[in-house]
Amino acid sequence: MLLQVLGTAAGGGLPQWNCACPGCAGARAHPERRRRHASLAVRADAGRWYIVNATPDIGDQIEDTPALHPGPGARQTPVAGVVLTDAELDHTLGVARLREADSLELVATAPVREALRTGPRLDAVLGPYAVLNWRELGTAPLPLGPELEAVAVPVAAKRPRYAVGTGADDPHWVVALVLREPATGKSLVYAPALAAWPDALREAVEAADCVIVDGTFWDEDEPVRTGISTRTASGMGHLPIDGSAGTAHRLAGLRARRLYTHLNNTNPLTDPADDRHKQLADRGLEAAADGMVIEL
Ligand code: MLT
Ligand code: MN
Ligand code: ZN
Repeated sequence: MLLQVLGTAAGGGLPQWNCACPGCAGARAHPERRRRHASLAVRADAGRWYIVNATPDIGDQIEDTPALHPGPGARQTPVAGVVLTDAELDHTLGVARLREADSLELVATAPVREALRTGPRLDAVLGPYAVLNWRELGTAPLPLGPELEAVAVPVAAKRPRYAVGTGADDPHWVVALVLREPATGKSLVYAPALAAWPDALREAVEAADCVIVDGTFWDEDEPVRTGISTRTASGMGHLPIDGSAGTAHRLAGLRARRLYTHLNNTNPLTDPADDRHKQLADRGLEAAADGMVIEL
């Protein structure tokens, strides 16, 4: 299985356009600290790739990644479709950026598809530009190509703010995505938003060869302490990395390569010199970086 990390920042990116916090200011002063919005490209077959989550940076992310460049035909693209792990704007706004396609394959759970149809009215708005071909992502393996199948592990019923109060209380609103290569049995768990750690997720990460998960906040109080929110990390739908409720100890002892993504600009890991990188390394963990290529 071949993956390429297209971005590793939470909503807003790093730097965020209206933010002068130390993380954003640091990224303006040191361009190597910049991170695009969290996204991943995964190969389904020779010359056929899926993008996991369509961010506002998707155009630049495709240009940064030669494997995703079009050709040799004038409008021939290796991008076969987009898989969505939730309906949040930072993971879906980029779909509109792909409207130059005649048609677009979107792989998502039923609540995510319905939220995007009724909230941002994606089908109605994009229909005159590109036909959206939806495929339902669920707990049964969905073939994406000879080298790849996708399975959803339902995580939480956390709705995006534009969809609060809509739909059923269904843990398919936010899923961890398991990507598997049938020929080798290799698997990746990609979960950029984790409000909970259900047993099915524990089983999936135990079986995985690589795990890339929610590293939005270092600790539970970070959003309050840094003044960006009155809610805690888990109150915002993101289990923190550190602490007793954190994900670091849940990831301890796994055989998989384990990385964090979706870093918020308040996260001290946005500073490459911060001591917390060493704390992660001591636990066998690492922060993912934009452009990382991972072969399983
Ligand atoms: C989140 O990850 O919690 C959301 O993307 C927040 C947002 O972008 O508004
Ligand atoms: Mn987000
Ligand atoms: Zn900031």
